[in-house]
Amino acid sequence: MGLLENKVAIVTGAGSGIGAASAQRFAVEGAAVVVVDIREAKAQETASAIVEAGGHAVAMVVDVADEGDMRRMVADTVTEFGGLDVLFSNAGTLRPGSVTELSVEDWDHVMAVNVRSVFLGGKFAVPAMMERGGGSIINTASISGLHGDGGAVVYAASKAAVINLTRAMATDHSADGIRVNAICPGTIETPPVQRMMQDPVALEVNLAAHSIGRLGRPEEIANAAVWLASDQSSFVTGEALVVDGGLRSRSPLGRLADPRPVHKR
Ligand SMILES: NC(=O)c1ccc[n+]([C@@H]2O[C@H](COP(=O)([O-])OP(=O)(O)OC[C@H]3O[C@@H](n4cnc5c(N)ncnc54)[C@H](O)[C@@H]3O)[C@@H](O)[C@H]2O)c1
Repeated sequence: MGLLENKVAIVTGAGSGIGAASAQRFAVEGAAVVVVDIREAKAQETASAIVEAGGHAVAMVVDVADEGDMRRMVADTVTEFGGLDVLFSNAGTLRPGSVTELSVEDWDHVMAVNVRSVFLGGKFAVPAMMERGGGSIINTASISGLHGDGGAVVYAASKAAVINLTRAMATDHSADGIRVNAICPGTIETPPVQRMMQDPVALEVNLAAHSIGRLGRPEEIANAAVWLASDQSSFVTGEALVVDGGLRSRSPLGRLADPRPVHKR
C-alpha cells in the first residue's frame, strides 16, 4: 500500500526537475497525478512516463501566474478525478540581479510566477479540499528565502514571501483539515542548475557550501514532498522544511546565478 493511495494530487512545474521527480514519486505511492507545466511537451513527457510505468496521470498546460488557468486547473482536476487532496505548488523561476540591475518587468515576472501562483493555488485548491474534509498543500520555497542573498534579490524576496504565506495559510486552514508546508531546497541538480554549473566558479562555491559535499538530487526533494503530502506528516503544518545537504554558508543560489565577485557585477 503506497503512502498516497486513493489521493488526487496536482504537481506544478512537473515537466522538469523537482516537479517531474515528485510527480513520478507521487504516482508510485498510489496517487492520481495532474502533471502541470507551462510547456506542453514537457508536461506530456512526465505524464507519459507515469502512465507507461503503470500509474495514473494526465498532463495539463497551465501558467501558474494566471488566475483563469489556475481556476481551470483545479476545476478540471475535480472533474477528471472526483476531487483534490494534494497540491504541490512547485513551479518557479529565477532572474539574477541586484536591485539596480533588475528591471521592473523582472521583478513583476518573478513575483507572479513564484508568489502569486501560491496565492492562486491556495485560493482555488482550499475550497476543493474542504469538499473532501481536508488536504495537504506543499509550496516550494528555497534556502534563498531564509537568507538575504545577493545576486538574485527578487528570487530571495519571492521565496521569503512563499515561506510566510505558507505559515499564514496554515494558520487559516488548520480548522478545515488542510495542512500547508513549504520545502526549502539547497542547490539541486535540475536542468537550469546544471546549465549554471558549467561555470567552474559556480560549481566550486556550491560544492563547498553543502556539508554533504555534493549537490542534491530532485528525488531527494520528492522524498520530502511525499512525506508532507501523506498522512505520515499529520501533525506538521506551517513548517518550512529545509532539505539542503547541511548548508554551511548563506545560500549560494544568488552567486550561482551570477558568480562574479560583487564588486565586478
Ligand atoms: N534547483 C534548485 O537548486 C532549487 C533550489 C531551491 C528552490 N528551487 C525551486 O524549485 C522549483 C523547481 O525548480 P527546478 O530547479 O526543478 O526547475 P526546472 O526548470 O527543472 O523546473 C521548473 C518547471 O516549472 C515550469 N514553469 C516555469 N514557469 C511556469 C509557469 N509560469 N507556469 C507553469 N509552469 C512553469 C518550467 O517549464 C519547468 O518545467 C522552483 O520553484 C525553484 O525556484 C530550486
